[in-house]
Amino acid sequence: MDKIKNRINELIDKINKASYEYYALDNPTITDQEYDDIYNELLRLEKNYPELKREDSPTNRVGGEALSKFEKVRHETPMLSFDDIFNDEEIELFNERIKKTINNPTYTLEPKMDGLSGSLLYKNGVLIRAATRGDGIVGEDITLNVKTIKSVPLKLNKEIDIEVRGEIYMSKISFEKVNIEKRKNNEREFANPRNAAAGSVRQLDSKITATRDLDYMAYFIPNPENYGISTQHESLEFLKELGFKTNYKLNGFAKDYKDIINYIEDLSIKRETLPYVIDGVVLKVDNLEDEKKLGFTSRVPRWGIAYKFPATEVLTTLKEIKFTVGRTGKITPNAIFSPVHVDGSLVSKATLHNEDYVIEKDVRVGDIISIRKAGDVIPEVVEVKLDRRDKSLEPFKMITNCPICNTPLIKKEANHYCPNEKCQARHIEGLIHFASRDAMNIEGFGDRIVEDFYNEGYLTKIEDFYHLYKYKDELMTLEGFGEKSIDNLLNAITISKNNSLEKLIFALGIRYVGKKTAKLLSIYFGSMDKFMKSDYDTLKNIPEIGDIIAKSIVEYFKNENNVKLLYNLKELNINMEYKGEKIDSSNEKVFSKTFVITGTLSKPRDYYKEILENLGGNVTTSVTKKTDYVLVGDSPGNKYDKAISLGIRILNENDFNDLIIND
Ligand code: IVH
Repeated sequence: MDKIKNRINELIDKINKASYEYYALDNPTITDQEYDDIYNELLRLEKNYPELKREDSPTNRVGGEALSKFEKVRHETPMLSFDDIFNDEEIELFNERIKKTINNPTYTLEPKMDGLSGSLLYKNGVLIRAATRGDGIVGEDITLNVKTIKSVPLKLNKEIDIEVRGEIYMSKISFEKVNIEKRKNNEREFANPRNAAAGSVRQLDSKITATRDLDYMAYFIPNPENYGISTQHESLEFLKELGFKTNYKLNGFAKDYKDIINYIEDLSIKRETLPYVIDGVVLKVDNLEDEKKLGFTSRVPRWGIAYKFPATEVLTTLKEIKFTVGRTGKITPNAIFSPVHVDGSLVSKATLHNEDYVIEKDVRVGDIISIRKAGDVIPEVVEVKLDRRDKSLEPFKMITNCPICNTPLIKKEANHYCPNEKCQARHIEGLIHFASRDAMNIEGFGDRIVEDFYNEGYLTKIEDFYHLYKYKDELMTLEGFGEKSIDNLLNAITISKNNSLEKLIFALGIRYVGKKTAKLLSIYFGSMDKFMKSDYDTLKNIPEIGDIIAKSIVEYFKNENNVKLLYNLKELNINMEYKGEKIDSSNEKVFSKTFVITGTLSKPRDYYKEILENLGGNVTTSVTKKTDYVLVGDSPGNKYDKAISLGIRILNENDFNDLIIND
């Protein structure tokens, strides 16, 4: 036994050393094959001798049982952030302000990682807790998820108690990979690596986080004096010694304004070539005594600041101006350009709003244009590079007929509209809107799928969503779909039947009735029946509903087709009531029944739990005589055995899908 124990210890030490050299020092010392061999040997030994498995074993990085929620944790020292500044003048002001308190200050300059900050707590050198920033005072416990991040040491090179802060982020390559996967599964893609990192670290199922390839860059120790540290750059060196990845190749020093500007210029050039996204430079007064003298305002430290890069502008060629028709018939010109990476995401189109906008910018097909995208903001065309324009380029000309149905367009104020109510494009847009997140939130039904199903004839009007299940076998054979993806879509449709009234009202696409108005109307009327019967005066009397909205609603219900649509949806069991917090009790197979979920399913446990609870089911953790159903995934444990011995009904995922469809 001792021999095995020694071998396990030896393997763990070897793997930890290899990881440290790879992640923290950027200097791999063994090949991937050698790494895999020792890792697999460790896995084998731990499987055969589970009692010898160590808490800090690298095999623990694959994730564990899914959580039902994140516990709240209080930070021992508040987790603050810096004030942001945006230009050279503000840098100079910051430097001047510091100089009023400190003689000859020096600064550490660090790339500002674009992710989310995470606090790591170690006891005797072992990672015991990881937390998000939250509101700075209370964050969320994300320990299981953070343990899957390979650059986070599970055990430090020194057996000390310490809190470390840094950025959880996703590299550009991993971001592309996650989105390719999302695209394949017809899921919504992440807008940028920061959202991807935040989404992945807030997964209740750490097994999913483990597949996301997150990373961690350490940059701060809250109580450095406890370790004999007297400057920020010593903090960074200490973190590296402990086994953390730090940005030691890019971090810099500055003594004055000029040094700071030079560093920023230099980093702006390197920025695009880095494997991860940075959105600025963090400036910290280096000397900790000086930091103490400067102290804090009521919100932020005075000893540091975050300079944010201006939104990146990237040049590309305008290939086409493509017109789209919205659900109201509005025609929008869109710039279609050669795909370019801007701030971490690949973009290839931007709206040009309307004719006046295009003419004002004088955008012409073939032009070199600059594109800007700051953070989550949708891309926009900034300007045309007129000095690079080819003389032969034709000026823009607005179309006169609908690009889809050829009906002559009409102009209202700045916009052109297709007046044909039967225009196919208007239908498709209406269907996309119906399924969209703020409307019925039928997950998976983005532009592409709605268009595909429309073109194949399965989805030509709103009611068709709720008949799709009848064509499951046919849909599965469509290119790019399989049983799993169709099941996901059908499940999402079923779930949408239980939405509260405001989502349906918004989904109908009544002109001028946005998300907020829809909510107001559902609270006021409580049911679709009452809403449909409302007249102009009643509507007009509701606070915040003006003449235009009231007229538009009356107009909508005057149209027989719309009344018929609502009648059909009611027949299809679509909820027509405002729910507030109420639960749908119409599914007797689920309502007030008790469920246990075990094993690995295709989605996190919370997904199934939420559906069951919305239908009035109870989800508990242990199997007893009172359990009605056990939902079983791959490699279930003893809950499965117990359910069998008690004769409780077992459901697999297919059975679950059948159970929740309430026809
Ligand atoms: S130090 C007291 N260093 O940017 C603030 N922050 O306002 C201690 N960030 O929310 C943070 N890179 O999430 C620090 N090298 C770096 C950073 C960094 C990114 C983030 C951090 C914080 C914000 C700064």
